[in-house]
Amino acid sequence: MTSARPKIDFDSKIPNNVDLAGDRKLQRALERWQPNFLDWWGDMGPAVDTKDVYLRTAVDVGRDGWAHFDHVPMNEYRWGVFLSEHDPDRKIAFGEHKGEPVWQEVPGEYRADLQRLIVIQGDTEPASVEQQRFLGATAPSLYDMRNLFQVNVEEGRHLWAMVYLLHAYFGRAGREEADQLLARNSGSDDSPRILGAFNEETPDWLSFYMFTYFTDRDGKYQLGTLKESGFDPLSRTCEFMLKEEAHHMFVGTTGIDRVVRRTAELMQTHDTEAVAGAGGIPLTMIQKYINFHYTVSLDLFGNESSTNAANYFTAGIKGRWQEERRDDDHLLADDASHVDAFRDGQISRNEVPALLALNQDLRHEYINDCKTGLKRWNRILAKAGIDAELYLPHVGFNRQVGAFASANITPDGKVVSESEWNAQKDRWLPTELDKTHVRSLMHPVLEPGKIAGWIAPPSTGINDKPVDFEYVHFQ
Ligand SMILES: [Fe+2]
Ligand SMILES: [Fe+2]
Repeated sequence: MTSARPKIDFDSKIPNNVDLAGDRKLQRALERWQPNFLDWWGDMGPAVDTKDVYLRTAVDVGRDGWAHFDHVPMNEYRWGVFLSEHDPDRKIAFGEHKGEPVWQEVPGEYRADLQRLIVIQGDTEPASVEQQRFLGATAPSLYDMRNLFQVNVEEGRHLWAMVYLLHAYFGRAGREEADQLLARNSGSDDSPRILGAFNEETPDWLSFYMFTYFTDRDGKYQLGTLKESGFDPLSRTCEFMLKEEAHHMFVGTTGIDRVVRRTAELMQTHDTEAVAGAGGIPLTMIQKYINFHYTVSLDLFGNESSTNAANYFTAGIKGRWQEERRDDDHLLADDASHVDAFRDGQISRNEVPALLALNQDLRHEYINDCKTGLKRWNRILAKAGIDAELYLPHVGFNRQVGAFASANITPDGKVVSESEWNAQKDRWLPTELDKTHVRSLMHPVLEPGKIAGWIAPPSTGINDKPVDFEYVHFQ
């Protein structure tokens, strides 16, 4: 395979490896969007005043050594446009254009669908920054505060990634959509973000770790399907975003690790499950947060049976997770599959053409991936000698989208009446009391190396720096 790794141009106003300087019109349009982005970042980005933060910035898009770490003032972060390497031999891997060279321009007949996919992906990126706006003020350590801000600047960069595509390939309509990405806001009554999970609040750090574990992981799977796209600029954009996204999920995985570890310690020290009084988060509460964040993330995959997903696949604009590793004809025209269904008050399955079942296919991949975290957390509990396990609730539990939206299903998969659901739901989902307790623990710890009492310290620092490194400087 020959490949060309475009060098990143850091001298221009917008760092990029797409030769912006060679397209004056595009460059000017993005330079006009840039101050609006910075205004949005000032209004909706992290609300804590810092002098500078130890952040990584992309300096290369290759496999190794892509990131540079340094203390930088956050509003001077070099947000830019970075696409992964260009493979001139790349072919479309699925659908009716399978085997044809990938597209460098948007095919007219897929213009509307591609624009829609890019707008939906683009909308989630700034949404999460908005949801996490106030978390910095209650960071359990400087290490955690730094990780939050790293996630925030990179979600900002992901917005840039989608805005670049809209500006470069979708003309006037694309530019208008790019403006709308800054006009909608998470939780707004008048102009909310497009997807439900991105209008929920992230009011505390347990929610933040859950969000980065469960909801950023949805992002990983969506980006994974767009990385397969026959529209090559979208594919290359998503491939590089996935590299950044890995750290976000690391923050979630290890964040929950540390909460579970601390809870286990407190359970042993005080010889009780009721660790709230000792300043911890009881396992039952952690379970409720898992239940909530997992199920709102399951909703993001859409209806079990979807003609849109089928059309996107056949058109070659959105593939399956790890499309090229799949052992089938990549057309799916003759295959059948089963999807979850809810019929006559019972959980059941429907046989449908495989093309219609692609949302469920992706959700299934996601669920399997989510299980790895549960294994880790249960290992931590077992090692501490605690006889309790965390789990993922049944796929039909607490769903607002798809086959189970009208069903009342318990975490262990039992169908119950609405009145029973209402009578029991406080045992399964975070209550106001739970949320108040978690919020009551949220006090900032700003001394390097110190950590809040409800969470264990991280095992290592960032980029080989010690845990007690001054990751954030204040004014
Ligand atoms: Fe992202
Ligand atoms: Fe992310």
